[in-house]
Amino acid sequence: MAIKPLVAGNWKMNGMTSTIPEFDKLRAGWRETQAQSVDLMICPPATLLTALAVRRGAVLIGAQDCHPLEKGAHTGDIAAEMLVDAGASAIIVGHSERRADHAETDAMVRAKALAAMRAGAIAIVCVGETRLEREAGAALRVVLAQLAASVPDSAAASSVIIAYEPVWAIGTGLIPTIADVAEIHGAIRAALISRFGGEGVAIRILYGGSVKADNAASLMAVGDVNGALVGGASLKAGDFLAIAAVYNP
Ligand code: PGA
Repeated sequence: MAIKPLVAGNWKMNGMTSTIPEFDKLRAGWRETQAQSVDLMICPPATLLTALAVRRGAVLIGAQDCHPLEKGAHTGDIAAEMLVDAGASAIIVGHSERRADHAETDAMVRAKALAAMRAGAIAIVCVGETRLEREAGAALRVVLAQLAASVPDSAAASSVIIAYEPVWAIGTGLIPTIADVAEIHGAIRAALISRFGGEGVAIRILYGGSVKADNAASLMAVGDVNGALVGGASLKAGDFLAIAAVYNP
């Protein structure tokens, strides 16, 4: 069975109530017929989840990060159950900005992925090497180690998505060569199949890092690239729709 691609937008710490009209533009430009062949998702900051979820149309809504526990005395944190309650159907975990800014380890990322799954959301688990790691020839080793330790044993195609995001490509305008993307995605696919069998064949693997309308077609054409995780270019409806149009010309 063909894998349905996903183009997910990660708004990061951007977006105010004044941004809602931009989301309305996106929703207006995204028809049910297009949504049949590709999933389009926006992951806004938690403050906008409910506002976007109630007006989402054919656009899926995801969240950014969650606490591993269901509830309790954790000031400022948000449980996966709360994010789902607010309208999220997926949660990004292990983004390199979380790993760097909050010293998140693979074990913490795995716990958060499990929390997302427990709450009934898809866990979008991010992995990716730094510039120094790539220059040292360690990219593949680093990515596969993160994958092994960040993805829960109970992962299935319906509950987990992998996002390969080279840290040095995020927000920089730099992207890996097509050959490098093919190598890493192929290796991720092989690792998923050896660990999860048939489920590993179907788990979606997104590429993320400076995806724009003008490079999306070549990146999305690479084998085992099943969509994109998009930061900056997801903030403007027109830019984001142009990326998704790769799947829906
Ligand atoms: P970018 O971010 O598209 O702005 O490079 C990607 C990401 O961090 O998910």
